[in-house]
Amino acid sequence: MCGIIGYSGDQDSIPIIIEGLRTLEYRGYDSAGISVCTEEGIKTVKTQGRLTVLEDKLKENPELGGGCAIGHTRWATHGEPSDTNSHPHSAKNLTLVHNGIIENYAEIAEMLKGAGYTFESETDTERGAKLIDLLYEKYQDPIVAISKATKIIRGSYALGVIFNDIPDTIFAIRKDSPLIVAKGEDGCFIASDIPAILKHTKQYYRLAEGIIAKVSKSEVEFFDMEKNLTEQQLETVDWDVEQAQKGGFPHFMIKEIHEEPEALRKTLEPRIRDGLPYFDIPRLDGDFLSKFGSIHIVACGTAMHAGLIGKAIIERIARIPVNVEIASEFRYRNPILKKNDLVLLISQSGETADTLAALRLAKAQGVYTLAIVNVIGSSVAREAEDVMYTRAGPEIAVASTKAYSVQCSLLYLLAVKLAVLNKTMSEDEARDFCARMLTDIPKTVTSALEMSTKICEAASRLVAAEHLFYIGRDMDCQLCTEASLKLKEISYIHSEAYAAGELKHGTISLVTDGTPVIALTTVGKVCEKTISGIREVKSRGAYVVSICSEELAAKYDIPCDEQIIIPHIDEILSVFPAICILQLLAYHVSAQKGLDVDKPRNLAKSVTVE
Ligand code: M6R
Repeated sequence: MCGIIGYSGDQDSIPIIIEGLRTLEYRGYDSAGISVCTEEGIKTVKTQGRLTVLEDKLKENPELGGGCAIGHTRWATHGEPSDTNSHPHSAKNLTLVHNGIIENYAEIAEMLKGAGYTFESETDTERGAKLIDLLYEKYQDPIVAISKATKIIRGSYALGVIFNDIPDTIFAIRKDSPLIVAKGEDGCFIASDIPAILKHTKQYYRLAEGIIAKVSKSEVEFFDMEKNLTEQQLETVDWDVEQAQKGGFPHFMIKEIHEEPEALRKTLEPRIRDGLPYFDIPRLDGDFLSKFGSIHIVACGTAMHAGLIGKAIIERIARIPVNVEIASEFRYRNPILKKNDLVLLISQSGETADTLAALRLAKAQGVYTLAIVNVIGSSVAREAEDVMYTRAGPEIAVASTKAYSVQCSLLYLLAVKLAVLNKTMSEDEARDFCARMLTDIPKTVTSALEMSTKICEAASRLVAAEHLFYIGRDMDCQLCTEASLKLKEISYIHSEAYAAGELKHGTISLVTDGTPVIALTTVGKVCEKTISGIREVKSRGAYVVSICSEELAAKYDIPCDEQIIIPHIDEILSVFPAICILQLLAYHVSAQKGLDVDKPRNLAKSVTVE
C-alpha cells in the first residue's frame, strides 16, 4: 500500500505533491511526508497522522520550496505509525519513498551494520535506503546502485529516489507494487496511481518491472538493469479529473454507489452482441470455455464475495462446479489444479498481492487464467492469459461498491455464456436473459438509489448497535457476506453474515433483546425457510429489518420491525438492487456515526502487501 508521488519541474513542488498525495491517501493514511530538493540540499518534513497534519507542519517551514520533490502517504507495515517511521527516509547521499515490503530487511540491516550504518527507524524502507546508499558510495552511479540494490532486495517495492548531488532528478523502479511515470507540460512525475497526475496530464507510462526511470524537469528516460536506454509504452487515461473527484457528494463512497447504474451499463452494453454474451476476446467468444470441467474463483475481500455470487449463478444456470477461494489461502495450500480447470481471478485494483500470487501459481501449474479487473493495464490484467475489464471507472473509497456490482454483472454474463455452451440454456433463453439484464439491472439500481431517505432512516436505528446479524439463504446468504463486510469496515459495528438455517446451531445464543438482525429475502424457493429463521430471532427479542423483494413481500407476512422493499426485478437479478440498498445502509450508518467513511481505520484501498 502507501502512496507515492514525485515531481520535477519549474513549478513550486509542494502544492503539487500535496495535491497528488491527497488523491493517493486512499492507499494509506497513517502518516505522510515530503522531501524537497533545495539550494541547501534535500529537506524533509514528515509526520504521523493525516495529510492535513503534514500541511500544518509545512506551514511552519514557509522557506521550504523547490522544483523537485517526493512525497509519501503511509500504511504502516514495519514499525508503528510515528514521525520517525514516516517516509521519506534518508541516508548520506539520498532520500527515498517506498511502497511495498522489503522481506529480507533484517539480513540487509546486518550487512549494513557491518559497513558502519546505524538506523533511526524500525522500517524496512530505511534499510533499503541505506543499502542503495552503500552501493552509491561504491559505484558513484545512481542507476548502477539502484540496479544492484534491487538484486539484493527480496519483496515488493515501488521506489522514488532523489540524490543529494543530482539535483532535480528522481529515479524510480518497481516490483509487485504499482508505479507510473508521466510527462506533463510543467514537469515530469512519478506516482502510485493515475489520479495523482491527472490534473497535469492524461498520458503516462506504466513502469515495467526491472526498468529504472530517470525523471528530470523536461524528460523521462528508461534504463534496463544493465543501464541500456530502453522504451516504455505511452498510455492514455480515458477518464478525467471530474470522474476522480467527489462531484458534489459528501464522500466518494456515496458518489460511487450512485455511479452503479452507469457503471453497469458501461460494463454490460459492449459485452452483449446479437443479444448474446460477447467478450471481445476471440477464444472466449468461441467455444473455448466449453472445455473446462470446473472453475476456481480466487480473490480477496469484496472481490471474493462477488465470486460467491458468481458461484451461485454459474452453478445454477450452467451446472458447472465452482470453488471460491480466498487468494491468501489458495496460494499457500498447494491447491489441486487440473488441466481442464479454469482459474478466474477477480480484482478491482488488479494489484492485490495475494491475488497476483494466486494467478502466478495457477500459471506456473499450466492452468488457464482469466481475470476480471477494473484497472486497465494493472498487474493482474497484464499477467492473466485473458482479461475482462469491468468498466466501473476509478473507485477511490476504500469500501468497494460499484466494483462489486460490475464484477457480479460480468460473472452473470459469463454464466450465461457457459450455460449456452453447456446446453443448459438455449440461445433464445440466453437472449432473453441478456436483454433483461441490460434493461432491468440499471433501471432497478436507479430505483434503489431513490430510496436513500428510507434507508437513511433505517440506518439511524442501527447506529447504536454493537453487533448485528445479516441472515438469508441461498444467493441471499452470499449477498449477506458482502453486506456485512461493508458495514463492519466503515461503521466499526461488528456484524456477521449467517445462513438463516444455521443460526440455531450455536450463534443464536448471541441474539438478545434488541439485537438488530437484517433479514434478506429475495429467493422464493427458500423464503418460508428464511421466515422460520426470522421467527426464531424475533422470538428472542431481535430487532428485525426485513429487506425483501416486492413479490415475496406481497406473498408472505414477514415478521419484522421495519421493511425495505427491493424495486421489482426478476428474482434471479435481484442481487443488483439488493446490494445497492445494503451498501447504502452501511454508508448511512457510518456517515451518521460521523466516521471517516472513505478512509476507515487500519485499512487501505489497494492491498499490495501479503
Ligand atoms: O483490488 P481488489 O479487488 O483485489 O481488492 C480486494 C480487497 O482488498 C477489497 O475488495 C476489500 O475487501 C474492499 N476494500 C472491501 O470494501
